[in-house]
Amino acid sequence: MKALEMEGGVFRLTLLCVLLSGVGAVIVTIDKETYEHARGDNITIPCRFTPSITINAQTIVVITWSVEGTEADAEETGILTHFYGRGTDIKKQYEGRVALDVDVPSGKADLKLSSITLEDNKEFKCHLLIRGDDEGTPYDTARLVVLVAPSTPICKIEGKTEYGQNINLTCRSEEGSPPPTYKWESRDVRNMPQAVPPRTTDRGGIMSLYNISKETSGYYICTSSNKIRSATCNVTLAVMPPSMNIGSTAGIIGGVVALLIILIIIIYCCCCRKKKKDEEYAMGVREDEYRDTEPAKNTESPRADGEEDLPVNRNDQYGERSERSYDRRSDYDDRRSDYDDRRRDYDDRRRDYDDRRSDYDDRRSDYNDRRRDYDDRRSDYDDRRSDYDDRRSDYDDRHDRNNGRNADNYRRDRRDDDQSYDNRIPNKPPRTDYDD
Ligand SMILES: *[C@@H]1O[C@H](CO)[C@@H](O)[C@H](O)[C@H]1NC(C)=O
Ligand SMILES: *[C@@H]1O[C@H](CO)[C@@H](O)[C@H](O)[C@H]1NC(C)=O
Ligand SMILES: *[C@@H]1O[C@H](CO)[C@@H](O)[C@H](O)[C@H]1NC(C)=O
Ligand SMILES: *[C@@H]1O[C@H](CO)[C@@H](O)[C@H](O)[C@H]1NC(C)=O
Repeated sequence: MKALEMEGGVFRLTLLCVLLSGVGAVIVTIDKETYEHARGDNITIPCRFTPSITINAQTIVVITWSVEGTEADAEETGILTHFYGRGTDIKKQYEGRVALDVDVPSGKADLKLSSITLEDNKEFKCHLLIRGDDEGTPYDTARLVVLVAPSTPICKIEGKTEYGQNINLTCRSEEGSPPPTYKWESRDVRNMPQAVPPRTTDRGGIMSLYNISKETSGYYICTSSNKIRSATCNVTLAVMPPSMNIGSTAGIIGGVVALLIILIIIIYCCCCRKKKKDEEYAMGVREDEYRDTEPAKNTESPRADGEEDLPVNRNDQYGERSERSYDRRSDYDDRRSDYDDRRRDYDDRRRDYDDRRSDYDDRRSDYNDRRRDYDDRRSDYDDRRSDYDDRRSDYDDRHDRNNGRNADNYRRDRRDDDQSYDNRIPNKPPRTDYDD
């Protein structure tokens, strides 16, 4: 209905032009000055024209669509050129996303643009060239405004939330075209709408609250909205008395510090224990562990029935191993306590051995003493023996001198001599060589 009216209007305008100029002139019109669409939409910009001459198959008609930047000095760039009855050229950068809905005899050359972006925020121009009809204004333009829904805003509290302070509640959407407007509203603790305190200002997403008190506490919601959509965020404001705030802050800090210290001590202890354990593990228990696991591997791997591959088998085993690692860990702890027991036993035995060793050392020094005694006695004996040898040589001398005396005398003297000698040296065997 509206379109019909408009076309009627255009027709009347054309007639007026024709009447005023007195010659033929083409009229090109785009309905609206601006078109608003959301980013990503597929749109159509309508372009209508009324030629002043009759169009037939031989008439040369060229239709172009182009864009101008929003800045004054921005260059015009072509989108497409349509040659009536011959076809359409489309600029490379628009290939695949523009099309021309064209019907020259009925005066239609609409531009179809798909998946529009913020880049398409430009002035679009529809231009018509008809041979033999070059009077008038053969083009029209329209502005495309690509809209972006506001992104979810971020609400923040700036300043100290203490009695008597001035604070700002801020709200901002990263995206939004045209730029979104912001509105704050307040709810009380029962989530009922409450009036904002007097002197509060709300500009550009920043709400300034002055001389805040307990009554200022509540739930604050910000709505960010533009032509197409709106989004919200919210904050909970809890205004505290300054002293309590300081006290609680100090308490919290103290608690955290204490907790940290305890944690550090615990971690340190754990680390020390672990390190010590690892060292001892490396010393002894590790070998036990290997002895436990190695034979199992050996018995499983040479399975020759051919049903399972060796690598698979091994993988399974590793899986089991990791599953059993906890068990092995407790095993290890058991063995470890065993080991400690054995170690204590060993220490005891070692102490015993040391005791016995000192005993032995004592006995050894005894023996050395006795040995020295014996050596002394032996030297005594040697002295006495040399005495005897002296006396014997004396006797031999005397015997030589008394060669004339009778055998009885000699025998008696001799026995006396021997007896005296035997008495002095008890172990000496009886002498018999002189008895005959
Ligand atoms: C726009 O058109 C494309 C095909 O050119 C299609 O895939 C897409 O879904 C359309 N988008 C909308 C919002 O209609
Ligand atoms: C709050 O905002 C106003 C104006 O934007 C500014 O002058 C003031 O310093 C801000 N106050 C705080 C606590 O951020
Ligand atoms: C702040 O508010 C308190 C009452 O809540 C009032 O007594 C005081 O005068 C106010 N201060 C200012 C600077 O407005
Ligand atoms: C407040 O914001 C959170 C996310 O920050 C949202 O889950 C919740 O629904 C919001 N509450 C209201 C009442 O808008």
